[in-house]
Amino acid sequence: MKQFILFAGFSILICATSCKTVQKTSVLDFNAEAFTTQTLKVNDKEIKVRAYENISYVENPVDTIYQKMNIYIPAEYFENKTINGYSADNAPIFFPNQIGGYMPGNPGTAINNGKGMGGMQSGPTTIAQALAKGYVVASAGARGRTFKTGKAPAAIVDLKAAVRYLKFNDKKMAGDANKIISNGTSAGGALSALLGATGNNKDYEPYLKALGAADATDDIFAVSAYCPITNLDHADMAYEWQFNGVNDYKKIDISMLDYNVQRKEVSGTLSANEINVSNQLKAAFPEYVNSLQLKDANGNLLQLDKDGNGNFKELVKSYVIASAQKTLDKGTDLSALKWLTIENGKITALDFDGYVRYMERMKTPPAFDALDLSSGENQLFGNETTDSRHFTKFALANTTKQGGIAEEKTIKMMNPMYYIGTQGTTTTKHWRIRHGTKDKDTGLGISVLLATLLQNNGYDVNLELPWDRPHSGDYDLDELFTWIDKTTK
Ligand code: DHB
Repeated sequence: MKQFILFAGFSILICATSCKTVQKTSVLDFNAEAFTTQTLKVNDKEIKVRAYENISYVENPVDTIYQKMNIYIPAEYFENKTINGYSADNAPIFFPNQIGGYMPGNPGTAINNGKGMGGMQSGPTTIAQALAKGYVVASAGARGRTFKTGKAPAAIVDLKAAVRYLKFNDKKMAGDANKIISNGTSAGGALSALLGATGNNKDYEPYLKALGAADATDDIFAVSAYCPITNLDHADMAYEWQFNGVNDYKKIDISMLDYNVQRKEVSGTLSANEINVSNQLKAAFPEYVNSLQLKDANGNLLQLDKDGNGNFKELVKSYVIASAQKTLDKGTDLSALKWLTIENGKITALDFDGYVRYMERMKTPPAFDALDLSSGENQLFGNETTDSRHFTKFALANTTKQGGIAEEKTIKMMNPMYYIGTQGTTTTKHWRIRHGTKDKDTGLGISVLLATLLQNNGYDVNLELPWDRPHSGDYDLDELFTWIDKTTK
């Protein structure tokens, strides 16, 4: 960094005295002097950081609140000290987003302002905990579905632009921009995965260009994704493959109040028409799974028969069983759960229907592409003139409202499954995916399909389904940080 400042100062000096070319500066140049000092408390320890807040990460923003990034750097790095074995040169850049519900997401703050994790996080923020580990932290805000300008693919374009800013400024900033680790939960987890899957793909280029994104690449080093609400164009099928037969539901309505995501529970029973929709969607899932031609660890093709049974289902069950076994091994009594067969301290079988009834249904079919265009995802796929649109052929064919369907390219650009390992894409090598065994915001099959496709393409994937965890994230940061340290060092 110092070297750069000296160099820049020198060239300006030369130009002022002799040459005609002027040093080209950009509004996207990181200003290392524009910081405030913040003191954070993490585990009774005080840490000082330089806070660079409200940085505009594009030249031509279309939004003045969300297209901003906060960057935090441990103050010790300016005294040439090391933290957790990292220095100003090699510290990874942790890149957490705060996106929930595909709503606009604020850039995260190091100090808890009640807005982190949709207002759900108390105590030190994820950002403060990451700084205590010696990471540089950059948290970008992103546009969301409630704004005309925040429809798909706006949020992913914003995150990519923010990554480009970090890479463009790598020499001027502490931290190693070749070690960016993105993190997010739910819609934020989906965007974290999408960011990792689609590095440098040209599909996003026109959007990045229009925003005036920095001239740099946008591939990242690693992805952490909690309960990613992803693969939206196949998520309705995956949901009914899992929940078909469970007709009572407890739905959560998501809305936004004072810039915070709010959730309200509403319960009910599926109508005859909804059960019919569920049956059709369940029946469509095997064809999709089979079309992917995925393989298990032994090289066997993963398949489902027309009733939805087969080795892909066994694979999903194996992740739940592994989670139950880990819990049992820690001494938790699981004998009350009759859908688990436990013999001599080992889980030997899992009754999937029993497990799914224990989980309970949360969403009505179609879970994502609502026939009346009422879902958040419908709004995500709207455009400047139509607030909500469909994104599956099934919902379009069965629609009860006029709105039409989003462009195929837009649907593609929101789904990591179309990009992983493809030509012209730099897909992230390292993946950590978590989806709680009590998380019913999307089907378990979605995370398993994502992880399996990544594994089949040779990427390093760590997928676990934490026991009894509902829809949430950042609940195991010590383990996440251990994984980051192992992966980056
Ligand atoms: C989120 C939750 C959902 O159930 C959904 O459909 C989309 C997003 C979320 O919490 O971000």
